Amino acid sequence: MREHVVIIGSGMMGSGIGAMSALAGNKTILVDVEESRVLAGKERAVSCIRLRQEQGLNIAEEARRAETLLETSTDTEQAAGSARMVIEAIVENLQAKQQLFEKLDRILPTDVPICSNTSGLRITDISSLCQHPERTVTTHFWLPAHLVPLVEVVMGDKTDEQLAVKVRDELKAWKKSPVLVRRDLPGQLANRVFQAIIRESIAIVASGLATAEDVDTAISCGMAMRFPEWGPLKHLDAIGLDLGLSVQETVLPDINRDGCANDYLKKLVEDGNLGVKTGKGFYDWSKRSIETDMAKRDQFIIEAVKATSRLDQTEAGGENR
Ligand code: NAI
Repeated sequence: MREHVVIIGSGMMGSGIGAMSALAGNKTILVDVEESRVLAGKERAVSCIRLRQEQGLNIAEEARRAETLLETSTDTEQAAGSARMVIEAIVENLQAKQQLFEKLDRILPTDVPICSNTSGLRITDISSLCQHPERTVTTHFWLPAHLVPLVEVVMGDKTDEQLAVKVRDELKAWKKSPVLVRRDLPGQLANRVFQAIIRESIAIVASGLATAEDVDTAISCGMAMRFPEWGPLKHLDAIGLDLGLSVQETVLPDINRDGCANDYLKKLVEDGNLGVKTGKGFYDWSKRSIETDMAKRDQFIIEAVKATSRLDQTEAGGENR
């Protein structure tokens, strides 16, 4: 019987995705090109599982079972051949992904979903060499995949909607919060919104309206405080759409509408100021530690996930009364 999930590419993303699959009770095979890489991937996946358990996101029994369900392989055909679902998380290279999808499409029965974790490519292009592109779909997990609940399930031009819905429902059982995106556009769903925020943030710094640090503070300590529970559209309903419309009419004419990257960002890049990797970007990284900031970010995500699931339970309790 087909019962296992195969994750191809056991790097940063594949290991986190593999951890979530195993925690959901699936026998999960991590695949990579070399033994050393796939073993390192499994080790990362085990750390993700242990972290989730230590932080109270999974119970001890789930974590213990998940560790026994994780396996590794360097033989894609053998591991994937009897899978019930495959998620590809290899390098972000169209040709490499196309070749892999062509192979998977050839060896797997037509009802087995073949998913890609691509962050920027179109699933329509990735599956262009497949005989059955209708069973291909993007499942874009967000980093860190073992903590951030969102997965964007993006349909390609030929994806069967029922298959996309089936994949979305599977991911709900993995304790994820998947969203269905019905067209294969640049930025999928969330990065379209995120890029709009980034465009205005850079424009504010470039115009001298505020510093990079103050822009980030305004977002992190303002709107982002509501976001784990309350998105911008719910916010509009709450304040009244008439008020929302009037704010839009005042503010939209004044904010950035550029259809290309800001010159301020281009200049930073031209000058070799690439952020953490060169020591300077919007911030001076010679005076900060990215590891400390990342640990704080992850701890915040953990607390937010716990808080929102507590609120969900309260809601369910309320509905049952
Ligand atoms: P990574 O470089 O950490 O891992 C990729 C792994 O795939 C490596 O271990 C590599 O050896 C393996 N690999 C390459 N070709 C292979 C093949 N043909 N068969 C089996 N294994 C192969 O990359 P990362 O960051 O995990 O990204 C993977 C995918 O996830 C990319 O498509 C990326 O765009 C996407 N993604 C990345 C995010 C990030 O923030 N790093 C966020 C969301 C998506």
